[in-house]
Amino acid sequence: MEASLKLFTDFDNKWSYLAGCFQKMVIFNSKTEIAASLEEKRRSGKKIGFVPTMGALHAGHLSLIERAKKENDLVVVSIFVNPAQFNNPDDLKNYPRTIEADEAALKKANTDVLFFPSVEEMYPPGETGDEPFEFGDLETVMEGKHRPGHFKGVALVVSRLFIIIQPNAAYFGEKDFQQLAIIRELAKKMNTGIAITGCPTIRETDGLAMSSRNLLLKDNERKEADKISKALFFIRDNRGGFSIKEIRYKAIEMVEQSGMMKVEYLEIAEEKNLQPVNEWPAEKNVRAFAAVKLGNIRLIDNVPVSN
Ligand code: PAF
Repeated sequence: MEASLKLFTDFDNKWSYLAGCFQKMVIFNSKTEIAASLEEKRRSGKKIGFVPTMGALHAGHLSLIERAKKENDLVVVSIFVNPAQFNNPDDLKNYPRTIEADEAALKKANTDVLFFPSVEEMYPPGETGDEPFEFGDLETVMEGKHRPGHFKGVALVVSRLFIIIQPNAAYFGEKDFQQLAIIRELAKKMNTGIAITGCPTIRETDGLAMSSRNLLLKDNERKEADKISKALFFIRDNRGGFSIKEIRYKAIEMVEQSGMMKVEYLEIAEEKNLQPVNEWPAEKNVRAFAAVKLGNIRLIDNVPVSN
C-alpha cells in the first residue's frame, strides 16, 4: 500500500514538473481580454503577482519574477515603454526595446502571462486623461526635481495597470527607491489592497546596478560606470569619518574625477520621506542616492547607509 502510494506521489510530482515545463506563457495585447482572463483566475481562487516593466529585461527583473512566483499562484509581467514618464523625447526614442529576447527570458522564468499593450491601448486617442495623483514632498526632490512630470507619468501608467490586472501583490526594484515610495503611496491612495513589495537591487560583479539603460553604454562608458556604486559604497563604509558635506564632496569627486561623468545630484536622504539631510541623523535610516550623466545616458543608483 505504502509502495503504491509512493509511486503515485512520485508520478504526481513528475507530472506537475513536466506540466510546468510545457506550460505556455499567454500573451495579451488587449486590456479587456487580459482583464477577463484574470477575472476567471481570480474567481477560481488564484493569487496574482504582478511585475510591471518597460522591457529590456535583466537579472534585476528576473529576481522580481522569481519572488512573485514564490508568493503567488500566477505571475503577470507587463512590458510597456510608457511615454508619459519620459520628460526627454530622445530618452524615449532611444530606450532599449528587446521584445524577442524579453519573451524568451520570460518563458525561461516560467512567467504565466505577458501583457504587452500598444501606446493606443494604454492611452486611447482623444481620451481626456485621469486626474493626476499628488505626492507632496516625495515628488519634489531628487528624481522628481530633475525629471519634471516623471512621477506623474509613472503613477498614471501604474494606476491603469493596477486597474487592468488587479493583482494581489506587485513587485518593484529598490534601484528605483523613490519610485517605490511613490508607488506605495499610490497604492494607499487607490485603496486597492495591493501589497507592494520592494526587492533588493541586483548588481553586476563590479557593483554597477543592473538597469535596462546599461545596454546603451559604449564600452569605455561601461568601464567608467562602476564608479557610481563605488562612490555610494564609499559613503556607506565611511559614514563615521566625515560630515555629510565632506562625504558628499568626496563621493562627487570620485564620480567626476576622470571627466567622463557629471553628477546631477548626490544626496543623503531619509528612507522614510526621502528628504535630503545635512547632518547625520541619530536614529533614522538614510540612503545615499545619485543620478549621473555618462555621455547621453543618465544612470541612477542608491545604497542604504545604516548607523
Ligand atoms: O520601473 C519601471 O520600469 C517603470 O517605471 C514602471 C514601474 C514599469 C512604470 O512604467
